[in-house]
Amino acid sequence: MSDIKKIKDDYIKKLNQNLDLNSVNQIKTDLFGKNGLLSNEFKKLGSIASEERKQFAADLNSIKNELQNAILNKIQDIEIKEINLKLQNEKVDVTLPERTFSQGKIHPVSQVIDEISSIFSEIGFNVEEGPDVENEYNNFTALNTPDSHPARDMHDTFYLDNNKEFLLRTHTSPVQIRTMLKDRPPFKIIAPGRTYRSDSDQTHSPMFHQVEGLHIDKDINMGHLKGCLNYFIKEFFEVDKIKMRFRPSHFPFTEPSAEVDIGYEVKDGKIAIGEGDRWLEILGCGMVHPNVLKNVKVNPSKYQGYAFGIGIDRLAMLKYGINDLRAFFECDYRWLNHFGFDPLDVPSSYRGLSR
Ligand code: PHE
Repeated sequence: MSDIKKIKDDYIKKLNQNLDLNSVNQIKTDLFGKNGLLSNEFKKLGSIASEERKQFAADLNSIKNELQNAILNKIQDIEIKEINLKLQNEKVDVTLPERTFSQGKIHPVSQVIDEISSIFSEIGFNVEEGPDVENEYNNFTALNTPDSHPARDMHDTFYLDNNKEFLLRTHTSPVQIRTMLKDRPPFKIIAPGRTYRSDSDQTHSPMFHQVEGLHIDKDINMGHLKGCLNYFIKEFFEVDKIKMRFRPSHFPFTEPSAEVDIGYEVKDGKIAIGEGDRWLEILGCGMVHPNVLKNVKVNPSKYQGYAFGIGIDRLAMLKYGINDLRAFFECDYRWLNHFGFDPLDVPSSYRGLSR
């Protein structure tokens, strides 16, 4: 009995000292481990004379409980101390000045793509996409563009291999082919995206943006094309009246073909769309050539329709008064800060198409 009383007193004393968690765990092992001091006392029980055994067992159990409680309390103490220390160290100083942060802006081209998609989706167009790297079949051959066509000339097209099999698409029209090959008519889609031509000056950049439109059904005619473009331009520029003219033109993949100009004037150094007597070309369009429909296994005696290709960068420049195209792609943060859009600010022509 005196042995175990001494063990108890020694260890209670130890536990009253300033200890860390490891030392407490060590004490736990010393006492209750496989060969621990108290574990060994319990092993002795069997060899003690039965008269003494009961008393010894009772003493041993009460000492065991006392020590176990002391250990538990000590562990709790240590943990509370640790938490308090952490709280103290992580205290927030509310008097510190706030950190400055810079907010991103939406690039005018992204903004205009959203606006265009939103306007066309309201009149039933779905948005399609195609890759920037195209094969020559989708970009030219399927679009009824013969080998001899000047658009195929090395000066315009960025070819990616010596066989001229792959290229950076020169327009978004190959998305017409991709869409019609993967589905059956009717089709009513727009396809915004990047396009590439080997050309660079104040109004031309080797990478630029277009939005393709395609509407094919059983009785679609040039009147629908005119109505659709007229509606789009009015919505886009947020004007009630628009002056628009269709000028005869030529594209291998449309017949008849036209280029569309819109009327404008310059008032106090600003462009006013829909007024005045100046004309500005903004898109190419026409009725889809029967050969194109044949190439994608659509029967041209049953189905017909129109297509158009609009220069997105041009529209952005016009709507937001930006006069140098090259600035669009220079990634100058000051420029973006000036011409970019607040992501939380929703202009009236933007109808919340999910991005
Ligand atoms: N793909 C033509 C271009 O890049 C534009 C266009 C598209 C013309 C569709 C007619 C029909 O110039």
